[in-house]
Amino acid sequence: MELVGAHSAHTLSASEDVASCAPRARAKEPVTPYTFTPALKREMAPLYERVKHVVTPMEWVHYAPIVKAINELKVKRNAVILAHNYMTPEIFHCVGDFKGDSLQLAKEAARTEADVIVQAGVHFMAETSKLLSPDKTVLIPDPLAGCSLASSITPEDVRALRAAYPGVPIVTYVNTSAAVKAECDITCTSSNAVKIVESLGVPRVLLIPDQYLAKYVQTKTKVEIIAWKGACEVHERFTGEEMNAMREAEPGLKIIAHPECPPDVINASDFTGSTAAMIDWVKTKRPAKVVLVTECSMASNVAAEAPDVEFVRPCNLCPHMKRISLENIYEALLYNRYEVTVDPVVAEKARRAVERMVEASA
Ligand code: 13P
Ligand code: SF4
Repeated sequence: MELVGAHSAHTLSASEDVASCAPRARAKEPVTPYTFTPALKREMAPLYERVKHVVTPMEWVHYAPIVKAINELKVKRNAVILAHNYMTPEIFHCVGDFKGDSLQLAKEAARTEADVIVQAGVHFMAETSKLLSPDKTVLIPDPLAGCSLASSITPEDVRALRAAYPGVPIVTYVNTSAAVKAECDITCTSSNAVKIVESLGVPRVLLIPDQYLAKYVQTKTKVEIIAWKGACEVHERFTGEEMNAMREAEPGLKIIAHPECPPDVINASDFTGSTAAMIDWVKTKRPAKVVLVTECSMASNVAAEAPDVEFVRPCNLCPHMKRISLENIYEALLYNRYEVTVDPVVAEKARRAVERMVEASA
């Protein structure tokens, strides 16, 4: 496998991939129409049941009124909330309409009949929804919810790769801006990367921008992979030594890792897969003790539904995913903000790359 690229992953500030939804002046703190009364507590009890293992009664006093307000606004605006597996449990289980990994959310965005999509995730996901649902209003509750992978590569970088490797197809992980996707042949996610690479029927592909996903895919295919030097700032922090130390300290522990992790972490794991595949593995295998080597909130979301499983929790948070809260979801629906738009010329090319993936992974 060849590794190319001048940029390394870095924490996103206000970068190119969030430029298309400039924030307006911030409104006052949200004032929901509800407070936590005994009647509201009773009404919201079925939703509390879903999160009672991971949300304390004290926290619920704060969450319940805003959850009720969000769920009412969704009906009023004919809106759906697409919640990534890294959302916190009160978002994931109490207001999310469709939940899943990047591929599952993209597919839901393509088929929803709602007028408004609120992306409880990061900016590249909202852009993907807009590409697949161009006539819908797509909102991101915080436009600065970026991604270190998306900010590791620019459209100019991709054009330079094209020139350096003429005729070699470029597969981009969905964790990129629409402008980068527009320069690529097809997108992939962590759940279909091997399938997409092999679907092209060529001996060599560029797979950008995650060097670790590329390394993982290289172990699963004979197609030669040329990788970019990007990395996920959450997953690159895990180490093989950390895995070995956990195995020693926790007899019987199952280690389940995301393919954005470095190879020594993946080599030390019992299973590797996308966030959705990791969840399925735990729900199906029901291990007595497990560590999900990925963003921290996912373990809380699975623990809410699998109280019999013990989760060992090294807590690496994604600062971008954690920008999304019940408060800014409520404000997004109330004030119709922040709308995500993609330049039509860019959108047409980027959409082709995403649609090719959706067709190839159907
Ligand atoms: P998946 O949910 O597609 O596995 O991706 C993980 C991720 O890091 C998304 O930002
Ligand atoms: Fe990007 Fe990593 Fe955060 Fe996912 S977890 S949004 S890949 S920085």
